[in-house]
Amino acid sequence: MYRYVLQPLFFLLDAEKAHHTVFNLVKFLFRIPLVPSIFRGLYHIAHPKLERELFGIRFPNPVGIAAGFDKNAELITELADLGFGFIEIGTVTPLAQPGNPKPRMFRLKEDKALINRMGFNNEGAQAAATRIRKIRKAEAQNPQRKRVIIGGNIGKNKDTSNENAVKDYEICFDVLFDEVDYFVVNVSSPNTPGLRDLQDKEPLMKLLQTLQDKNYRKSAPKPILLKIAPDLEEEDLNDIVEIVQTTKIAGVIATNTTINYSGLKSDLSIIPKPEKGSLGGLSGQSLTKRATEVIRYLHQKSGGTFPIIGVGGIASPEDAQEKLAAGASLIQLYTGFIYEGPGIAKKINRAILKNNM
Ligand SMILES: Cc1cc2nc3c(=O)[nH]c(=O)nc-3n(C[C@H](O)[C@H](O)[C@H](O)COP(=O)(O)O)c2cc1C
Repeated sequence: MYRYVLQPLFFLLDAEKAHHTVFNLVKFLFRIPLVPSIFRGLYHIAHPKLERELFGIRFPNPVGIAAGFDKNAELITELADLGFGFIEIGTVTPLAQPGNPKPRMFRLKEDKALINRMGFNNEGAQAAATRIRKIRKAEAQNPQRKRVIIGGNIGKNKDTSNENAVKDYEICFDVLFDEVDYFVVNVSSPNTPGLRDLQDKEPLMKLLQTLQDKNYRKSAPKPILLKIAPDLEEEDLNDIVEIVQTTKIAGVIATNTTINYSGLKSDLSIIPKPEKGSLGGLSGQSLTKRATEVIRYLHQKSGGTFPIIGVGGIASPEDAQEKLAAGASLIQLYTGFIYEGPGIAKKINRAILKNNM
């Protein structure tokens, strides 16, 4: 139904417009009595064998929704009802910001991929925290509802210089601390100028150590993960392993979108060029192989001493299997959801159960 009816209809719209249309449609539908339980019945799957215990959190299943899809924490319970085991909100920044000029999200249908240069458009950390607080209240009032595992993906505002970046991450960390289950430090988006420079050894060590020190001062510290780019060289990945082990953060999310467009079938000349910078970050099928390589390398190099959340071009049970076999403990997806539709989490979870993945 999704692939042959809904997807072709949504694909008639500009990619970002389609995203907002689907968002609003889901929000509207889920307000109708009984609709949430119908969707839950159709798409949700629960089984003790799907559960994963990682950095002190019990995940109901290992398939999550990646950052960027629900930037402002607007669709958390709905996404959980569609079968996702955890929802990563953000990237949020301290202050609300509009992101880059539109159009800024493009489909590469032949490659089952997307290119985006959103630029951290979001309503700010406070708005996300307020929404999650409401969800937590509703969860507490309804014992039948399970607490949704929420990750807070945090970044810096575009106008904040890299010298002052640590402060931005600290603000987001403080604002979201009581609401989210784990944090993700995003230094790997290609769409905020200079952000990826924070992946260099010295600034990264400083950033993560500052956040960890703050974290350790809390009575119940939260897991902090680092999200990295797929475009890092082997030497950089070796540094990442060292930094994770030195700062003792909880793990790594690999990977963000790539700026390597090699091997694409699609004609990139149809994508309007931005005034400055690259066309944007590539996600989906064209990223699958590289993201898996990065996961495998980190897993082997670290001897499996920290967990990895695998993300990048997962659109089928086979893709999920590859990421898990490469060393990922959990997986996430975004582009696969756009191309395959709402049944994707259930399809993957069923295969995980069937094949004991
Ligand atoms: C439109 C769009 C927006 C994204 N925004 C963010 C973001 O704000 N923060 C982030 O860490 N990753 C962001 N991502 C990256 C995804 O979380 C994911 O790492 C990447 O798309 C690879 O996974 P996929 O192939 O399943 O999409 C975004 C991806 C897309 C397609």
